[in-house]
Amino acid sequence: MKKRTYYVTTPIYYPSANLHIGNTYTTVAADVLARFKRLTGYDVMFLTGTDEHGQKIQRLAEAKGVTPKEYVDVIVSGIKDLWKIMNISYDKFIRTTDDYHIKGVQDIFKKLYDQGDIYKGYYEGWYCTPCESFWTETQLVDGNCPDCGRPVEKTKEEAYFFKMSKYAPRLIEYIENHPDFIQPESRKNEMLNNFLKPGLQDLCISRTSFDWGIPVTFDEKHVIYVWIDALSNYITALGYGSNNTEALDKYWPADIHLVGKDILRFHTIYWPIMLMALGMPLPKQVFGHGWLLVNGGKMSKSKGNVVDPVVLVNEFGTDPVRYYLLREIPFGSDGLFNNEIFINKINSDLANDLGNLLSRTCAMAEKYFDGIIPAPTAKENVDDNLIECALSTPKKLEDSMDKLRIPEALDTIWELVGKANKYIDETTPWILAKDEDKKDRLGTVIYNLVESLRFISVCLVPFLPETSEKINKQLNVDIATWDSLASFDGTQAGNKVQKGDILFPRIDVEKKIEELNRIKEQNKAAAKKTEMQPIKDQITIDDFEKIDLRVAKVLECESIKGAKKLLKFKVDLGGEQRQIVSGISKYYKPEELVGKSVIVVANLKPVKLMGEISQGMILSGATDDNSKLFTATLDGELPAGSIVR
Ligand code: MSP
Repeated sequence: MKKRTYYVTTPIYYPSANLHIGNTYTTVAADVLARFKRLTGYDVMFLTGTDEHGQKIQRLAEAKGVTPKEYVDVIVSGIKDLWKIMNISYDKFIRTTDDYHIKGVQDIFKKLYDQGDIYKGYYEGWYCTPCESFWTETQLVDGNCPDCGRPVEKTKEEAYFFKMSKYAPRLIEYIENHPDFIQPESRKNEMLNNFLKPGLQDLCISRTSFDWGIPVTFDEKHVIYVWIDALSNYITALGYGSNNTEALDKYWPADIHLVGKDILRFHTIYWPIMLMALGMPLPKQVFGHGWLLVNGGKMSKSKGNVVDPVVLVNEFGTDPVRYYLLREIPFGSDGLFNNEIFINKINSDLANDLGNLLSRTCAMAEKYFDGIIPAPTAKENVDDNLIECALSTPKKLEDSMDKLRIPEALDTIWELVGKANKYIDETTPWILAKDEDKKDRLGTVIYNLVESLRFISVCLVPFLPETSEKINKQLNVDIATWDSLASFDGTQAGNKVQKGDILFPRIDVEKKIEELNRIKEQNKAAAKKTEMQPIKDQITIDDFEKIDLRVAKVLECESIKGAKKLLKFKVDLGGEQRQIVSGISKYYKPEELVGKSVIVVANLKPVKLMGEISQGMILSGATDDNSKLFTATLDGELPAGSIVR
């Protein structure tokens, strides 16, 4: 019989920032789905990769004096190392710089152009380089990028557009008729009501202001802008646009695209519309998981609160990290990463519950039977409870995994762990051991414990693969298939158990937290030394001459109602007075700057911010973590209006 197939994907990662525990979360979750399906008999394709084009990479590479490809090569190899240490069992790793992907994307672009879905026009708007996102005037928050809060740049350039709106009614109908397509449910409503139903704008899909991207074959000054390039990876990885479409025929449509909630919109609107335009079936499901937060909110480099998975794995091992992510974070909602909860979880669930069960079982088998697993010949009623629990575990696990309830799946396994520990207390093997007549009963108890642990280790394969292997080794398990869990007799009596190292040594919580904090400080200091914001493209002295910097005296300053970040200044520029709006209210009380001389860009085109005209910009600089900001001044008095250069 032909095996059923299962195609699961993660997002492809930007190589612009080192991956943190939040990105790791997506990939670990996808790995669990892939491993579970493999275990239960599916032919699985698990895809991950890297999203390597764009202006940001080009700038970072230039700052380092290397080519973009040289720049990304180093980072991509680091990402692959990370997946190795997290035990990620991907079947394919796609890089958007791979030749077959480039060809596939060019074919897609050409096809959509030829059939009239792509047209040429002009893009005018605001661009946030770090986020690689375009924004309209109304989307900006206090004049800055609504995602990251950093300044945006005004752009106008020739660009190709994709006629998204044409497909919107079909997509709305599709989403409404396929309730599982967008999950969790709440996110589906958000996509429909906030984005699709209000009407879609055509999507800008090419750029001419940088060249680190896939060129449009029939108009080489354009490179294909990030989302068309990135999203296509899910089909080019299977051979779309090549001579060999065997994998595409076999695995497409994908069973699940797993993505963070921040990129759900791209996957449930742009991507399905692209596929509709290509005449391809849509993925069966897009699942948007929540954020992994740290105390104090979202993880970000600038806040210095990024949790590094490599440090955690070095300190605790891979499986404890996987365990925490999978058990503690409700799949689909936001969850917290916290060192103390993490270490306590290792101590209670892994060291105490699971680790002790294994070491006690092996120790008793060695002490009472020289390690030889006895046959179960003297059954008693108390065994039924344990055996029933073991036999019902696989089905419960399958149900939870079908609903993508990963923590619930682990609850089920730990229920069996708990039952087996309780069984030791109920059957008191150490008392049975005192009575030679109870030898058969003692043997049965040991057999049942070993067999329960075999169930546990098979069920753990998708979640804690290393631990599962260690258990099998100590118990000398030779049948570890899913099907073998249909009956409670897979352990071979006569096999010899081999007590090995403790699975999870207990950790001193306080000491370890101190150590982690120390490592974090060291890494922070090291990162500071090596990291510098990339220098922007060179300009000529003539370019610089275009900027008119002037000394301005602050006459008045007040906050703006409804705009948390903004202050409104009235300044004296010598010959005239101006109003300037600046997003610095976090750092200054309005009265603090009155009477001071600041430096302003005097010939910046005026803009309206929160309904207030701003006729210039006050120069200032912030610390890396944005906790402090200082305005630029001169170290002596100059009259208002004086030129600064
Ligand atoms: N390159 C795009 C994806 C293109 S897919 C066709 C991208 N890359 S990313 O590197 O910025 O993010 C990769 C994934 O990590 C996303 O799913 C994102 O939601 C996820 N996460 C980033 N920070 C996260 C947390 N703090 N918590 C959980 N997931 C997070 O977006």
